[in-house]
Amino acid sequence: MTELTHPLATVPQHELVARAEADPHRPRFHFVSPAGWLNDPNGVSQWNGTYHLFYQYNPEGAFHHRILWGHATSTDLVNWADQPVALEPSAGPDADGCWSGVLVDDGGTPTLVYSGRHGERELPCVAVGSPDLLNWTKAPENPVIPAPPAGVDITAYRDHCVWREGPVWRQLVGSGIRGRGGTAFLYESADLRRWDYIGPLFIGDAASGHPAATDWQGTMWECVDLFRAGGGALGDGSPGDATDVLVFSAWHDGDTRHPLYWTGRYAGDSYTPRDLHRLDYGGRYFYAPQSFVDESGRRVMFGWLQEGRTDAAMVEAGWSGVMSLPRLATLDPDGELAFAPVPELESLRRDHVRVGPRTVGASDVLTSVSGNQLDLELELELEPGSFFRLGVLGSWPVQDPALAQDPALAQDPEPAEETVIEIGCDVGTGGFSHSYVLLDRSRTSLDHTVDTGEKSGPVRLPGGKLHLRVLVDRSALEVFANGKPLTARAYPTLGGQKVRLSATGTVRLLQLDAWRMEGVFAGPRPLFP
Ligand code: FRU
Repeated sequence: MTELTHPLATVPQHELVARAEADPHRPRFHFVSPAGWLNDPNGVSQWNGTYHLFYQYNPEGAFHHRILWGHATSTDLVNWADQPVALEPSAGPDADGCWSGVLVDDGGTPTLVYSGRHGERELPCVAVGSPDLLNWTKAPENPVIPAPPAGVDITAYRDHCVWREGPVWRQLVGSGIRGRGGTAFLYESADLRRWDYIGPLFIGDAASGHPAATDWQGTMWECVDLFRAGGGALGDGSPGDATDVLVFSAWHDGDTRHPLYWTGRYAGDSYTPRDLHRLDYGGRYFYAPQSFVDESGRRVMFGWLQEGRTDAAMVEAGWSGVMSLPRLATLDPDGELAFAPVPELESLRRDHVRVGPRTVGASDVLTSVSGNQLDLELELELEPGSFFRLGVLGSWPVQDPALAQDPALAQDPEPAEETVIEIGCDVGTGGFSHSYVLLDRSRTSLDHTVDTGEKSGPVRLPGGKLHLRVLVDRSALEVFANGKPLTARAYPTLGGQKVRLSATGTVRLLQLDAWRMEGVFAGPRPLFP
């Protein structure tokens, strides 16, 4: 165990795991660190059949400090085995932290490109792995880029996207140019050790839009991720209608805002954007995503579900940060990304219940479905102008078991706590403009220190049809409404497990399938596997 070096390390390290395990808000089928702090997914990949998930990790406590690379492996993207810490700060350019980065295959040698932090500065570093990816040796050339581009007034400089293009490597480093906007600097190398600076791939405009807007570009782009949607190699020039996606996490002055992506075209040394989109309507609750193509050709993305409780509450809980479920990214017919949890997660489904078809009433608490580890899949048809609501994690104030058996009383008065996913169908044609998915957390928790802000975004409902998938894992919530994701957190205090459907206007439930989800960790896990 390392020495406690931080004033926030108030929970003794030997107690962290027990604290974390005892927390009712800790998810059971999402990946979480053994205890302590987790942030970004790093080095996400599949290598000789095995999936690798590295992550920003502070085993000292639930706060961001002296970050290591935690490591877990999986054969199915569902069950994870903890592996020894992959990277740890050491004297030199990463003395104060091994920040985010990626894994590439350098002619058969697993190689990490990451941001070494020293003082207040981050610089690109490289580490080479053993064939099983369990032991990592830092390159003697570190930092492999000695400084950010000269003569540019930058807001920050870190995080990497590295790919092979013909005979060379190319790399993006996330950054921002003061007074202009976020950017990614493009570099080229023959050996991942000596890099030539090419220039900014493309510069965003921080003056465009309101800084409070959910699609504000920010003044710095963290965790840039450039890929060709729908498969195909970056820069191979070919199909004229190919879409290259540039994902980034908009950051401003220490504030982690939200993930966005450009659709456009990468050619030569630059990127020509077409449109800017929100990647997840939960904003900061799905931050710093990173993706890879697996051996079956699927683009799989992970993101970091930040907490919605106070710093003190996190420290007290002994853990912080959830890794999203792996989600598949595809290009929808409108040229935007669509997301769905990987089908492998269905292996955790238990106790199947089917409800419907039926017309959704004004308030319908389900008697056959309840829980706080759930996978819910709904097919719905909404009339123009109608609203559908799905309440989860609900508790009603009627505590007397005798009274509670009376469904009328059990539903009356309103729930003491409930987290509500609402879908509104445009009065027009069910088109894009006003149909939406919204997360109403106003009654989520009686604890008024937790974030209960509303989250929402547009959804297309062609013909009023909606496929709604909702994964509830204690405090972690992932919603997919016709492929549009909304990820967030909820911290109910009453342990509510009720599920309620309600509608205003005419909403037909064609089918609801519900499952209890099995957990993926058997019990306490060592901080240093
Ligand atoms: C994003 C981020 C990255 C950085 C890492 C540090 O959440 O700030 O830019 O590399 O986290 O942990």
